[in-house]
Amino acid sequence: MDLGLSDATAVVTGGTKGMGRAVAECLASEGARVAVLARGRATLDETVTLLGDLGSPQALGLQVDVADDVSVRAGFDEVEAHWGALNVLVNTVGPAAGRFEQLSDADWVTAYQLGTLGAVRCVRSALPLLRRAPWARIVNLSAHSTQRQSPILPAYTASKAALTSVSKNLARSLAPEGILVNTVSPGTIVTASFTEALRGVFDERGLDASDPHDVMRWIDEVFHQPADLGRAGLPEEVAVVVAFLASRRNGYVTGANVNVDGGSDFV
Ligand SMILES: NC(=O)c1ccc[n+]([C@@H]2O[C@H](COP(=O)([O-])OP(=O)(O)OC[C@H]3O[C@@H](n4cnc5c(N)ncnc54)[C@H](OP(=O)(O)O)[C@@H]3O)[C@@H](O)[C@H]2O)c1
Repeated sequence: MDLGLSDATAVVTGGTKGMGRAVAECLASEGARVAVLARGRATLDETVTLLGDLGSPQALGLQVDVADDVSVRAGFDEVEAHWGALNVLVNTVGPAAGRFEQLSDADWVTAYQLGTLGAVRCVRSALPLLRRAPWARIVNLSAHSTQRQSPILPAYTASKAALTSVSKNLARSLAPEGILVNTVSPGTIVTASFTEALRGVFDERGLDASDPHDVMRWIDEVFHQPADLGRAGLPEEVAVVVAFLASRRNGYVTGANVNVDGGSDFV
């Protein structure tokens, strides 16, 4: 199926690692011009080279901190200077985990900075460019944990729930202009950062933090939240859903929150 992304322009925040990078790769493979936004210069450069190899003409790696509005505006100024208009914005940056008693006020503020406001800032800066394009889509990455709470994610989940709500509001507000806005809510996805963060915990149990079956075994044992497919997900399995929602081919899905969770929304 042709997604109609050939020569489209796309921005992916957090596009250098994990699901953001998988989304950037997917869009690049479809022929889109992709700009990835992140803080680390080395991974930006490495990602731009890869996106070029995958078929993205004029891939851009922009050093942006989504927690800083000045930085976000400068990033989108660069996008405007290169492309003039924007078809696709995908927001993937999110906050860290932490149990309720461990979280200070500052931690809560940081969670909202990264989980909600980062995407809000990017939408605000992107809107003039999205409005200039003949078609436009926004996809925000929320989290399945907004529907099935975990004790290690109270601030994280609250910020993602706010993002889901803002996305729904934007879908309604922007529908008259033909800009479609959707949320994708991943379940447990084995990204490199997930594996890195939990390697010690898994080692203690004799499990492999990079193995989707071991990861789901741990989720089930500790949090009693199995997925019907019996394993955790992979970044590319989220990316294809995001790519469809972000594409011109998506003509009638807006305001949706799509779970990509291996069948774990009801237990
Ligand atoms: N993994 C899961 O199981 C899971 C499940 C549900 C939802 N999610 C959500 O899915 C999203 C992607 O998760 P992931 O595990 O794929 O992420 P990841 O692998 O940790 O990658 C995070 C990306 O965001 C960038 N980033 C971090 N802070 C930033 C900032 N302040 N400004 C700009 N860029 C920033 C990172 O690059 P730099 O560090 O260089 O900036 C990197 O490119 C997150 O919102 C996460 O909450 C994850």
